[in-house]
Amino acid sequence: MLHPLPHSPSYIDPVVSIESLTGGYNGELVLESVDLTISHGDFVGLVGPSGSGKTSLLKAILGTLDVYDGRVLVNGVDASVRRPRVGYVPQLETIDWNFPVTVEEVVMMGCTMNSPLFPWVTGLQRKSAARMMEHLGISALAKRHISDLSGGQQQRIFLARALVGNQAIVLLDEPTSGVDIKTRDDIMHLLHELNHQGITVIMTTHEINSVAAHLPRVVCLNGRIIADGPPSKVLTTEILTETYGGPMPVIHHNGMAIVVERPHRFGYHARKGEDQDSAGLEHQDIV
Ligand SMILES: Nc1ncnc2c1ncn2[C@@H]1O[C@H](COP(=O)(O)OP(=O)(O)OP(=O)(O)O)[C@@H](O)[C@H]1O
Ligand SMILES: [Mg+2]
Repeated sequence: MLHPLPHSPSYIDPVVSIESLTGGYNGELVLESVDLTISHGDFVGLVGPSGSGKTSLLKAILGTLDVYDGRVLVNGVDASVRRPRVGYVPQLETIDWNFPVTVEEVVMMGCTMNSPLFPWVTGLQRKSAARMMEHLGISALAKRHISDLSGGQQQRIFLARALVGNQAIVLLDEPTSGVDIKTRDDIMHLLHELNHQGITVIMTTHEINSVAAHLPRVVCLNGRIIADGPPSKVLTTEILTETYGGPMPVIHHNGMAIVVERPHRFGYHARKGEDQDSAGLEHQDIV
């Protein structure tokens, strides 16, 4: 077994209930009238352009976003009143890599971050941190500083920190950004397996074709919820064009939605006068 289920599931369904949330930073609105319900065992992908509020929505669930109206309940408790017990993998770009901390110290933070009254690590927690690092293939890096590692290794460290506390809900902010295809597949399989064991997974991604299209549920966000449902219903030209505010042609192939890219010819020697708009697509392919 990959990861033990929480011993006594303390969730109530829905595990996350976002009700008419309007929130942001210093009075600036980022999210407006957001309603979203996440049930126990959901596996949700949040997509939307840069600045659309994906990270902010995760922060709302963590209880760290300023809420101006509405509320966010996690297991029935207002997240801004009591910090919820959830695992969190932050967007790598937001981490202070100069902070003097080793891999094992970061992972062990996951044992204590939900118990501020008892910030010391027990022997048992130390062992489970070691097991989690071994499972994620980062044991050999335990004493290394977190900045001296590759993007894929860094993702695994924060994944280990999020999972080591046996959380029933895990939030991941772009967990597959900056990693190679094999590492991306490894991470997605790991998340799939965790979800299979009953852990609720909410992740953001910019990778629509290789990640979002494979998830059971996709939420399109741009300050508000544009669409929410299975990829077959949500990943359409119309919905993605509205979400991203520009043309996003989608075709279907073998039952999968695929966002197609227009060919660009960059560089000094790019031939002049070529039809830059021809994507080689038949109009009837676009859905
Ligand atoms: N700490 C902050 N203080 C003030 N404004 C912020 C803060 N964090 C984010 N914002 C602003 O909130 C908006 C939404 O940011 P957010 O990080 O949620 O977007 P995102 O969808 O996660 O983008 P990306 O895909 O680039 O990660 C942006 O306009 C951003 O500038
Ligand atoms: Mg973000």
